[in-house]
Amino acid sequence: METSTLPKLHDAAKDFMPINGTDYLELYVSNSKQAAHFYKTAFGFQSMAYAGLETGLKDRESYVVVQDKIRLVLTSPLKSGTDIGRHIDQHGDGVKVVALWVDDATYAYNAAMERGAKSYMEPQTEEDSTGKVVRSGIYTYGETVHIFVERKDYKGVFMPGFKKWETPDYNPSSVGLKFVDHMVGNVGWNRMNEWVHFYENVMGFVNILSFDDDDISTEYTALMSKVMSNGNGRIKFPINEPAEGKKKSQVEEYLDFYEGEGVQHIAVATDDIISTVRQLKSRGVEFLRVPDTYYDAVADRVGKIDEDIAPLRELGILVDRDDEGYLLQIFTRPVEPRPTMFFEIIQRKGAQSFGKGNFKALFEAIEREQEVRGTLH
Ligand code: FE2
Repeated sequence: METSTLPKLHDAAKDFMPINGTDYLELYVSNSKQAAHFYKTAFGFQSMAYAGLETGLKDRESYVVVQDKIRLVLTSPLKSGTDIGRHIDQHGDGVKVVALWVDDATYAYNAAMERGAKSYMEPQTEEDSTGKVVRSGIYTYGETVHIFVERKDYKGVFMPGFKKWETPDYNPSSVGLKFVDHMVGNVGWNRMNEWVHFYENVMGFVNILSFDDDDISTEYTALMSKVMSNGNGRIKFPINEPAEGKKKSQVEEYLDFYEGEGVQHIAVATDDIISTVRQLKSRGVEFLRVPDTYYDAVADRVGKIDEDIAPLRELGILVDRDDEGYLLQIFTRPVEPRPTMFFEIIQRKGAQSFGKGNFKALFEAIEREQEVRGTLH
């Protein structure tokens, strides 16, 4: 059964880990330069910052791209034998860092460490002529880390060590992506509750929604999920684990191909999903498709919505309703060779949930792709 404690987030006074929002996401990728170009041309990001040989780095190169509040850092090694290279060898391209914007990165680190976090990076201050940034970091599931970023005394383009990266002759228009709505982690068998407790105890998050395998199952596969939220609701991390089904679930497929636990999808918000998805498709982004019959039943299921059904059907956008309103969402196919990470585009119209009414149609769509990949068995 779905259980919800929405919207009972804890009050600010009790929130020992105040977080202002997602600061950046760093992906370790095999070709950061081409990945940056992909996110610009396909997803409408802009050039923002660069660090590498030209800034004095010898072992890695990073390109930062930006769209509204979303910053992606794309990092590749410049030589063999690095941690980044080993990470890519094991996991393929994927999210290494989910950076969280805080007012005090030293406090956040100490608060997490006192509560049992595993250290990734002790607080470090980096400075340039425009100010300073303090960062610290802890491990979460798999090899994924959270870096706390304190940037109240910084006025530069991104962070010390980076220089501005401009491509004046190529500035793609935004497709309307605004901010990270939520990020989902896939963890191993029977590991969901362990990570739920980590986010509760170490990070001060609360479990706002739970789905068991009755909610998220098809004829063949199943998974379970719990949604963790920080105190002000700006950070939401659903955590998935596989559940027993007749065949291999999408979470197991992910764990096999990522060779470990990691970020499954990044959900990014838009105010106009029809326009955003139309542009993304025209730029070559590939989306999962549910059967056309989905749209025959959608009006009965969700009731009156502002949008016409025709463009939703044309573009494959899904709709779901909860007590507070409705949401529109769509999922890309994986954005790297391994069937691992993908994006969700979401527009919320009051709803604070995650599209439970779409799970079955969606997971059947994923299974059809697994079938083609030969991983549904
Ligand atoms: Fe999602």
